[in-house]
Amino acid sequence: MSSNTILFFDSGIGGLSVVKEARVILPELHYVYVADDAAFPYGDWPEQALLDRLSSLFGSLLARFRPALVVIACNTASTLAIKHLREQFPQQCFVGTVPAIKPAAERTRSAQISVLATPGTVKRQYTRTLIEQYASRAEVTLVAAAGLAGLAEAYMRSGFVDEDAVREEIAPCFVGRAGQGTDIVVLACTHFPFLVNRMRKVAPWPVDWIDTSEAIARRAQSLIRAASLSAEVQTPALADVAVFTSDRPDAAMQRLMRGFGFARIVPFRQAG
Ligand code: DGL
Repeated sequence: MSSNTILFFDSGIGGLSVVKEARVILPELHYVYVADDAAFPYGDWPEQALLDRLSSLFGSLLARFRPALVVIACNTASTLAIKHLREQFPQQCFVGTVPAIKPAAERTRSAQISVLATPGTVKRQYTRTLIEQYASRAEVTLVAAAGLAGLAEAYMRSGFVDEDAVREEIAPCFVGRAGQGTDIVVLACTHFPFLVNRMRKVAPWPVDWIDTSEAIARRAQSLIRAASLSAEVQTPALADVAVFTSDRPDAAMQRLMRGFGFARIVPFRQAG
């Protein structure tokens, strides 16, 4: 690793849930946030088309920002493309985000867990393999929430969310009944932690909601440390920047990004 740039990637604002944790333990790095909002939501994309898009996007993003580390803060992209991207860019260090099925299987007492994800993540072979490998003794319900990432986007922009819509999206997670049914819901999309308080409020009974943002930030920290990367060796300090592939973040989005430390939004197409 040669720069002190860490690049976070998502289809929208979901990756900010990981940035929030990373900033606490890795405050000295130069942050770049890339939202592929022109293609949001990723959940419904055909696999080959999304793979091709990610492959070409990363070609230009890596050349432009030369990050020490890339965090693909998106389950839908990671479960599809992480292996492929590591092969395509063997010099680049990547951290992926995949459904926390293993910790859920270890913690459940009722042996009933649900994985709340986008339709894309639910369909992936990667997700099925995680279940076969780590959760063979639990009953796993995969819930494809088609509208929840969009609700999280709207909530983060406006502060408002339709609670009935959230209730409807999460309802299939609750299998059996309180005390004997589902006791863990895996938040397998980085957008969802932003709505977890609303989910708690409308859930039919209390469950543990597993959010991996902190674990992903810690994984990034350990890779950064292993490479002995520190702010001391880096000069001069660069301003953190965000990129939107639509090149059209509205005022509410710009405000939100400022709140997460991204005061500068730079054009997608222009290098530098
Ligand atoms: N934030 C993304 C994830 O973690 C997905 C949102 C979407 O584009 O549908 O899966």
